[in-house]
Amino acid sequence: MAFVLFPALRTSSTVTCERNGATCSRFRSAFRGDALHIGVSRVIAPQTRLAPQMVAAAPSAPIKVAVLGATGSVGQRFMQLLDGHPWFKVVALGASPRSAGKKYSTACNWKQAVPIPDEMADIVVSECDASHSAYGNVKVVFSGLDAEYAGPIEEAFAAKGCAVFSNARNHRMDSDVPILIPPVNLSHLDIIPAQRNSRGWDSGFIITNANCSTTAMAIALKPLHERWGLDTVMVTTMQAISGAGYPGLSSMDMLDNIVPLIGGEEEKMETESKKVFAEVKDGAFHNADFNVSAMCNRVHVLDGHTECVSVKFKNKPNSSEEIVEAIQSYPSITKSLGLPSAPDHDVLYNESPDRPQPRLDRSVGDGYTVTVGRVRDCNVFDARLVLFGHNTIVGAAGGSLLNAELCVVKGLVK
Ligand SMILES: NC(=O)c1ccc[n+]([C@@H]2O[C@H](COP(=O)([O-])OP(=O)(O)OC[C@H]3O[C@@H](n4cnc5c(N)ncnc54)[C@H](OP(=O)(O)O)[C@@H]3O)[C@@H](O)[C@H]2O)c1
Repeated sequence: MAFVLFPALRTSSTVTCERNGATCSRFRSAFRGDALHIGVSRVIAPQTRLAPQMVAAAPSAPIKVAVLGATGSVGQRFMQLLDGHPWFKVVALGASPRSAGKKYSTACNWKQAVPIPDEMADIVVSECDASHSAYGNVKVVFSGLDAEYAGPIEEAFAAKGCAVFSNARNHRMDSDVPILIPPVNLSHLDIIPAQRNSRGWDSGFIITNANCSTTAMAIALKPLHERWGLDTVMVTTMQAISGAGYPGLSSMDMLDNIVPLIGGEEEKMETESKKVFAEVKDGAFHNADFNVSAMCNRVHVLDGHTECVSVKFKNKPNSSEEIVEAIQSYPSITKSLGLPSAPDHDVLYNESPDRPQPRLDRSVGDGYTVTVGRVRDCNVFDARLVLFGHNTIVGAAGGSLLNAELCVVKGLVK
């Protein structure tokens, strides 16, 4: 499949894209309902919001996709983000046997701020059985499955020839599976031939996301790692309630409270981040050699994780201004690739002294942009900063969508 770039005009809340010559203006409109902009702040970045955005040409026909775990927190976000997508058409939905056989609108306890997309409300939910006829023509599978069940289900779909984009932890640390974050580690796609070889899969494969806190941290730290090399990272997270899925924690646990335990999250941040920054050589990952110490807390914020990070570098930068400049000048990789869901900026620096904040920054880049602020010297390490990323968009469903768009551009989805 050959791709050329088409110009498309984009503002902060609407996207116009070319779809086989026709204009598709509904794409991503669903997210607008979540946005709540309050206050004034200075964002330091090239002001390109109204500049023409280059979007890779659409495939000759829409690519049929399934969403597994479609009824859950991540699954619902997939449904929003896929509504009106210029390349992907949702044709099948999967969830547990409890939901199978019901229309999506009945099976799902919809908790998003916009209605269920019309085209999807009447799709009958199926069990997550790759041999089920509902998945007959599906080429791409987006998985928001509970990790208790995701592993073998995702493998069965990949074995059948589907490109599987997973949010579950099951395959993240497999030696032949990338934890792909396009602004950070595009080269990790090179592992796919080895994965297909070792598993005997012809056209299918599995690509995972990092856990949502790791994704935001990796995008924010990538410009710094590239220049000075990470040596030690100390991170304390304040993670949103939606990160625990639905219904998640009870209101009695969450109101007026902070819970200083998110099972397995600290270990995930400490191990996954080294693989995210790995080099790929001779068909294998060679993990980065920095150390991470994470402390993860659940706070009563609905969407979006805030993280306070202290960093020691292998080569110390001269000043915190240099660090800010590294973030500001870091190119938007996803946009330069022409991915239709790409934000104007993968990472953005906000120089207001009290930013980022979840309520004010969760809609930056429609949830695809990681915001960094408060870069300053550290009395113990070299520098400290605060970062923010939307957990179900850039940290989950949106991240998978970018990964899938990238694989289409690279000709990996057949
Ligand atoms: N929430 C986040 O911010 C976030 C971020 C990154 C990664 N993740 C990961 O993404 C995955 C989904 O998280 P979530 O927060 O969306 O969880 P969730 O709200 O609990 O949703 C879980 C989904 O899995 C389905 N499911 C449960 N048992 C099943 C079974 N036996 N067979 C097939 N499907 C089954 C559920 O279907 P029913 O409705 O029918 O039970 C539901 O659709 C998890 O692996 C999580 O760790 C979540």
